[in-house]
Amino acid sequence: MRSMIVGFAIAVLPLCVVAASAAEEAGPQAFNNNCRTCHSWKEGDNRLGPNLHGIVGRKAGSVEGFNYSTAMKSSGITWDEASLDKFITNPNAVVPNNNMKPFSGVGDAETRKQIIDFLKSNPK
Ligand code: HEC
Repeated sequence: MRSMIVGFAIAVLPLCVVAASAAEEAGPQAFNNNCRTCHSWKEGDNRLGPNLHGIVGRKAGSVEGFNYSTAMKSSGITWDEASLDKFITNPNAVVPNNNMKPFSGVGDAETRKQIIDFLKSNPK
């Protein structure tokens, strides 16, 4: 009996490690696939889009020196998980006339969650 339990633990443990590292990889990968063409998560690193450092809790249109659309600057949004999720599903539905083009949205809810969780972790 005891050896069965030990055997079980030995068989299951590596699976847990693999699952955990797959989850860690999923966030950056989803971000790279969908957002990185235009965004960096590093503070001060603005590309075609503003840097997304600390975006969860940040006021929309508030990165110093980035040339936002009037729509984004005057949207009055403070980004949280819910508003980010809606925005990256369909940017124009949340901030009409924004400049985040030609990005057409991320249709898959799981992928959106991975991206938002990743950004929320404030990657360095
Ligand atoms: C084609 C380039 C492009 C892609 C791809 C893109 N963005 Fe953007 N993003 C922009 C631009 C440009 C703006 C500024 C929009 C404006 O001023 O109206 C922006 C603005 C934003 C904002 C508002 C930032 C702020 O400071 O208020 C968020 C949040 C955002 N993007 C998240 C994302 C996420 C997450 C992804 C990937 C799922 C993504 N974007 C993909 C170009 C892009």
